[in-house]
Amino acid sequence: MSVTDFSSFIEWLFKKYLAFFGKGLDCDLESQYFHEMCYFWRLTRQYNATNCTDEDLQKMQFTILRENHVIEKGMSMQNPRKGFGQEKVTRLLERLSKYYDLYGRDDEEFLKYPLSTVLAYIDYSHANGVQMPEIEVAYETLRAKLPSLEIVASKAGIQTTTKKDLMSACDNGFESLLKSRHSLRYFSDEPVGQEVIEKALTLAQRTPSACNRQGWHTHVFKGEESVRLMYWQEGCRGCEEGFRQSVLVTANLKAFLSHEVFQAYIDGGLYAMNLINAFHSLGVGTIPLSCGFSLEKLKYLDQFGIPENEIPILIIAFGNVEDEYRYAVSTRKQINKTNTFHYRTTKS
Ligand SMILES: Cc1cc2nc3c(=O)[nH]c(=O)nc-3n(C[C@H](O)[C@H](O)[C@H](O)COP(=O)(O)O)c2cc1C
Repeated sequence: MSVTDFSSFIEWLFKKYLAFFGKGLDCDLESQYFHEMCYFWRLTRQYNATNCTDEDLQKMQFTILRENHVIEKGMSMQNPRKGFGQEKVTRLLERLSKYYDLYGRDDEEFLKYPLSTVLAYIDYSHANGVQMPEIEVAYETLRAKLPSLEIVASKAGIQTTTKKDLMSACDNGFESLLKSRHSLRYFSDEPVGQEVIEKALTLAQRTPSACNRQGWHTHVFKGEESVRLMYWQEGCRGCEEGFRQSVLVTANLKAFLSHEVFQAYIDGGLYAMNLINAFHSLGVGTIPLSCGFSLEKLKYLDQFGIPENEIPILIIAFGNVEDEYRYAVSTRKQINKTNTFHYRTTKS
């Protein structure tokens, strides 16, 4: 039985169930919710990157980008453990090699960024007195197969900047704002004042939302409660104790109707991005931290006073920046990889 047939069968069963036991319920509505759920189950099953990862070029590329980022983010931490990440880099190189064999002919250029990260990692390790001959051999072996590819360590890995530069760039036009914002993995000890926090929240209220419902909500934490949230989140291991101010952005399911069951994620996501940029425009450093977790883990959020009807969208840890700080470069794709013009374009 195909997944689609199975899904249709389950829906048919559910309708039968409603016909027998659904007295007093709006059966059309219940069926619609169930239909949305089954459809999403089918999409997830088919397209989620956990399933059959290396059998699909796009899934493999996204997975490599994620594994690549773990390395660059490790280098951007305040005090990375000497020689950190060797297992992860080894695993990344194995996947890169597999990618080359499977899809090298389709999109060889893709390997540029992750290989540049590995080179930056090797340089970084050498600078810290750490040698890793096996990783270097694996890197050189793959590198030798790609002679025409430009691998430049400085276009990946980490960069350093100063608070002075941040302050002149963060509120100097939209382009400058976007280009000077980076996710930071450590902050100064000086807390962000309540006035600045409220100013950022006020700016973020300008976020557009479906029918102006403004279904978002923010929960602001500080001190030990913020640190506890970081230990729960687990996506910033080693940084927890320094993330002493944070906002959990949620979206209220009560704001949305039966035909827009995913709208909470969209409105909440737009708001969260605006809040990040609002903080940044005020010279405050931030890092978005995922709430993309299993239900079992998300349920624990009630311990932080988050009601069930609020969907967790994103945690934003924030703080004042140090006089000099590092960040992961996080190279972006060219727009031709992420855009389709649905009309003929003329190139000048
Ligand atoms: C939804 C979302 C979840 C994220 N979760 C984490 C996380 O758990 N840990 C982390 O270190 N960074 C996390 N990040 C930060 C990303 O790694 C970062 O935004 C990305 O590499 C781009 O870099 P930039 O923010 O410096 O431009 C997250 C970002 C987003 C948008």
